[in-house]
Parts: sequence; structure tokens; C-alpha cells
Amino acid sequence: MTRIPLIAGNWKMHKTVAEAEEFIAGLLPRVSSVDGVDVALCGPFTALQAMVDSTRGSRVEVYAQTMHWTTHGAYTGEVSAPMLTELDVHGVVLGHSERRELFGETDRELQKKVPAALEAGLRPILCVGETEQERENGDTERKLRHQIQEGLEKVPSERLAEVVLAYEPIWAIGTGLVATPQQAQDAVAFCRALVADRSAEQAQGTRILYGGSVKPDNAAELLALPDVDGALVGGASLEPGPFAKIVDAARA
Ligand code: PGA
Repeated sequence: MTRIPLIAGNWKMHKTVAEAEEFIAGLLPRVSSVDGVDVALCGPFTALQAMVDSTRGSRVEVYAQTMHWTTHGAYTGEVSAPMLTELDVHGVVLGHSERRELFGETDRELQKKVPAALEAGLRPILCVGETEQERENGDTERKLRHQIQEGLEKVPSERLAEVVLAYEPIWAIGTGLVATPQQAQDAVAFCRALVADRSAEQAQGTRILYGGSVKPDNAAELLALPDVDGALVGGASLEPGPFAKIVDAARA
């Protein structure tokens, strides 16, 4: 089964509407001729409408960075899936390590959020990954198993391949440290094996991204790994030039 690579830029808490529009105006001409690669920009809620409007008709999809698991209710500050689909947002990042660490997002919540996104027609990118301490203690696989089994538990087996996984070792996020190709390949292959425990067929179709200090100069090596189907890019997604180079590196 061929898996179309996905390059997703995670802007985090960056970019006003004006800045998002300027970025997109700079990016579109640079990626318009790149075939065989899906491109997504994960923006702040306030910029999503403008991002959808200014990418319409292009190959670039727009994702949110989090959402609540219910459709509406007394959840001050939260945003629901129907609020995102109304804007024509395509997908949503779930379980980013910053949301887990800084805002207390739990695997139990993700167990509700992942199927809720799918049911609403949003493509979830479920992020998983170990801390430096966990890697040193030999706990990487235990952590990934726990996060993936919990996060996918309520996803029907026949829909597993609709969930994108992002393996992001926490020690590599925003640090300039990158997993070695062997570390990335091993962890991503392990993630795929965990999906295969539920459905071997779905695991073959599941896209698994690597994230953590992906830059134009290391992207090609990471994207060439047999089980790596794209990248979730933070810092290097803030300027159109470097981000377009990473998209180009994903071209088959
Ligand atoms: P980084 O962030 O590319 O700046 O390391 C990746 C992420 O947090 O998704």
C-alpha cells in the first residue's frame, strides 16, 4: 500500500492573521508544483479562517492544534470539532507533548478526542514520544505502547489508517537535537507494529511522521527511512523558504 507523505507545519503559538496570510502567499508558489506530497499547516485558532480562505484551491490543508472531545458545553476556552469543520479545517493535532506537559492533556482525554475528530470528518495527527529520561531508562517502547494503545483504543479497527501518528521524541523538540536515523526508524517501525496489533492491513496504510528539529538539511535523510511517512515541523515551518525545502525533500 502506498502512503502519500505528509509534511505538516506546526506553528504553535505563532502568527497573527496578517502573518499567516503573508506566509501562505510566500509558500503557495513554492509548493504548487510538488506532486505526491500532502502539505498541512497547523495554525492558531484565530488564524484558521484566514488560512482556509487563502489556501483554497491549493494543495495546502489547514489543521488546528487541539480540540475538545464534545461538540459543545460549559468548557470555557475550548473549541470543538464542529466549530473547526464549519471553517473547512481539514484536521487537528492531538496530544502534542506541549499540550500534555504544559496543559495537562491526558491519554484518557485523547482516547475521546481521536475518535471524535474522525467522526466529525477531521484528520487527527496523534503525537507520541518519550522524554530523555525515559529513553535513558530504556522505557521508550513502554511509553509509545501506552500512548498509542490508549489513544487509538476507541478508534474502530477499519478506520485506524485514517489516523496519522507523529513520533516526536520530546528531547528533540525545539532543541536542535535530532533522533538518529536508526532511532527514528526503530521507533516509527515500533509504532507501526502497535497499529498492526489491531490490524495488519490498516498498519500498512497508516502514515507515521517524525517530528523533532526537522530542518531542510536533515529532512531528506529522515524522510528516506522506510517507515517514516513525513514530518511534523515546528521551528522550520515558520518561514516559507525552509518549510518549502522540507516539502521538496519529501518528493518521491
Ligand atoms: P521543532 O518542533 O521542529 O521545532 O522541534 C516540532 C514539534 O513540536 O512538532
